[in-house]
Amino acid sequence: MTRLGILISGRGSNLGAIADQVAAGHITAEIAVVIANRPEAPGLEAALRRGLNAVCLPSKGLDREVYDRMLLAELEKHAVDLVCLAGYMRLLSAGFIRKFPNRILNIHPSLLPAFPGLDAQHQALDHGVKLTGCTVHFVDEQLDAGPIILQAAVPVQDDDTVETLSTRILHEEHRIYPEAIRLVLSGGYRIEGRRVIGK
Ligand code: GAR
Repeated sequence: MTRLGILISGRGSNLGAIADQVAAGHITAEIAVVIANRPEAPGLEAALRRGLNAVCLPSKGLDREVYDRMLLAELEKHAVDLVCLAGYMRLLSAGFIRKFPNRILNIHPSLLPAFPGLDAQHQALDHGVKLTGCTVHFVDEQLDAGPIILQAAVPVQDDDTVETLSTRILHEEHRIYPEAIRLVLSGGYRIEGRRVIGK
């Protein structure tokens, strides 16, 4: 069975959505390890409460290459073959990404390529778009730029705040992230250039 490694930095609600689907047998994989790079991440506690194998590897003050080697060692220790970034707010080094070619997924709270980077929901509101959403994509060496697996659109309402918009986007994130993982696990796709196409 595929062994997932889930990286988090914060709340861990996407981790929760994935773990629910694994527990229900809707994702045929095992969560081999959850790694938080911040000791105060609420998702770490939540993962432990669920009985998941969760560890903290604090990244603060560490050089990216040095930290990513620690990360890699932890993932290899648990024989992870698919890495899911779930609110992991740290860039990965090229060396790390090359170890998992098309085996790292990320969820981002906008319709990429719009609004990459931090505070995507804030960026969307500032820009005045009427439609935003979320994207699950493969991670390559550019920020928030790898081939797109699934997206969901979320309309922006006139009275939206960052909080209300984020909540509605999050609802869609929890739906499409498990779905994207299922697709990747099934192998029922091919990557042509930037396009992820169903077989
Ligand atoms: C989610 O909205 C996710 O899309 C976003 O952080 C949040 C994490 O929430 N990720 C990024 O912005 C990555 N650039 P969670 O910890 O509750 O899953």
